[in-house]
Parts: sequence; structure tokens; C-alpha cells
Amino acid sequence: MQAETKTPRRGLVRWLLGGGLTASVASFLYPVIRFMNPPEVSEAAVNEASVAKVQDFTLNSGKIVKFGSRPVLLIRAGESDWRAFSGTCTHLDCTVQYQTASHQIWCACHNGFYDLNGRVVSGPPPRPLEEYAVHIRGDEVIVTRGAG
Ligand code: FES
Repeated sequence: MQAETKTPRRGLVRWLLGGGLTASVASFLYPVIRFMNPPEVSEAAVNEASVAKVQDFTLNSGKIVKFGSRPVLLIRAGESDWRAFSGTCTHLDCTVQYQTASHQIWCACHNGFYDLNGRVVSGPPPRPLEEYAVHIRGDEVIVTRGAG
């Protein structure tokens, strides 16, 4: 008679413990699984962007600007001579920079050099830099992908 009254309680305790254990395991595994399989980040396809003001660049100067989520090296080589290249080196993706003294693009990571057409001059980079087209609209510097 006593066994009959304990059975439902025991079942309830087991059910609660089992549920708690399942919840604990799930709360531990969920972040691990999310970390190992992150959601795809949709990168907005930017094909054209206003990246700077003309007056921000003196002659023979260059700097990294944002083109969507990507870095672009924008160079003002002359009064109306603008160049834009991917800001990441084709060797191991370090950020490149413009060297005013040599008029070349330099990657400090392994001393790679590119000319003002993005071609490799020396060092380990295997390919030229991707080039972008540059247009001036008023005082805006507009960079366009794929037209370089
Ligand atoms: S990452 Fe640029 S030269 Fe190695």
C-alpha cells in the first residue's frame, strides 16, 4: 500500500531531475554549438560609395578609407590623379599603406611593395592589389568597385 503512494512522487522527482539535467546540458551546449556554427553574416554588397572629401587629401598622400566593410587605400597621386586599391595585401591580408617618399604602396608585414597601378614591385605578395575606380563629384571622392 505504501509503495503505491510513493510511486507517483518518485516519478515526479525523476521527471524534475531529468528535466533539470536536460535543461543544464542544453544551456551548456547551445552556446558551444552557436560558437562552432555562427550565423552567416550578410555583407552588404557595396559597389559604389562616397569615401572621403577631396580637401582631406593633399597631393601625394594616401590613407585607408572604408568601402562598405572593406578597407580601401585611397591615394591622391596628383591634382586630379586619384587611385584606389584594396587595402589588404595579397600575401597574408595585412593592411597596406601609401609611402609618400617612394610613391609606392607598402606592406609592413613582410616588406612587400606595389606600384601605383597595384602591381607587385618586390616582396612576397603573389598578386596585384585589386583596383577600384575613383570619380570626383563636387567635393566627394566616389569609389566604384570593378571599374578600375
Ligand atoms: S602580408 Fe603583405 S607582404 Fe606579407
